[in-house]
Amino acid sequence: PLTGTGTIVTPAADAARGVGAFNVIQLEHVQAIVAGAEAAGAPVVLQLSENAVRYHGALAPIASATLAVARAADVPVAVHLDHATSAGLVGEAVELGFSSVMFDASALDYDDNVRATTEVVEHCHAAGVWVEAELGEVGGKDGVHSPGARTDPAEAAAFVAATGVDALAVAVGTSHAMLTRDAELDFELIAALRAAVPAPLVLHGSSGVADAHLTRAVTHGITKINIATHLNQVFTAAVRQALADRSQLADTRRYLGPGRTAMTAEATRLLGVLRAA
Ligand code: G3H
Ligand code: ZN
Repeated sequence: PLTGTGTIVTPAADAARGVGAFNVIQLEHVQAIVAGAEAAGAPVVLQLSENAVRYHGALAPIASATLAVARAADVPVAVHLDHATSAGLVGEAVELGFSSVMFDASALDYDDNVRATTEVVEHCHAAGVWVEAELGEVGGKDGVHSPGARTDPAEAAAFVAATGVDALAVAVGTSHAMLTRDAELDFELIAALRAAVPAPLVLHGSSGVADAHLTRAVTHGITKINIATHLNQVFTAAVRQALADRSQLADTRRYLGPGRTAMTAEATRLLGVLRAA
């Protein structure tokens, strides 16, 4: 069923378990991730990013389909708006019944980030919607990788107190859209952030992190693990395989289906890795 994000993330944070938060673009992603979570017997967060909404041209069509699949699922599924910079889009997600939003004002300086995030938190909390924000910019969204970015624990604690956010995305060595899983995480910093910040921590750009390091990130204090690129790589590799040598292929189901099947298996596997933490 469709579930509050806090209902999934809070107990996981208390038990030092990881929660998979996987990005969706097409309906096939939604189906694959939910089927993968059902096979793993694990809850999952489906995330639609502002960028994915821009691709579709509107939030409601893909969001309605995503919410419908979540409602019908056999495991708890949260639907989350990812990397929103537009307060208007956040409002639309709240109206549609999203479980949570990430408001990303990480590119602003500290005071402006606090101001903008606080406004969004007030609006969302009034509607019972859980909010994630980011402090210390995790790079790579624009193709420019900056794995050296770091979130300061004292500043993070002050930010959470000032804004009232429910979870905080932190910069600890990852970068978005990495194609190889060789990011070097700052585990000491993760532990220091966990000790300083009274809210669950979120790791963005987790595609660049090897399985063993994902597990270590969770045991050191990360709860929500955001993965997009890696699952897309798996999906697209299967599509590429299905299309190879079949120049007459026309029915889109013949190549999207294998992509969906491959993504399902990898989602199940990743949720197992996070659970093993
Ligand atoms: O918000 C989404 C994630 O941070 C995904 O990043 O594509 O590098 O896995 P990724
Ligand atoms: Zn991200």
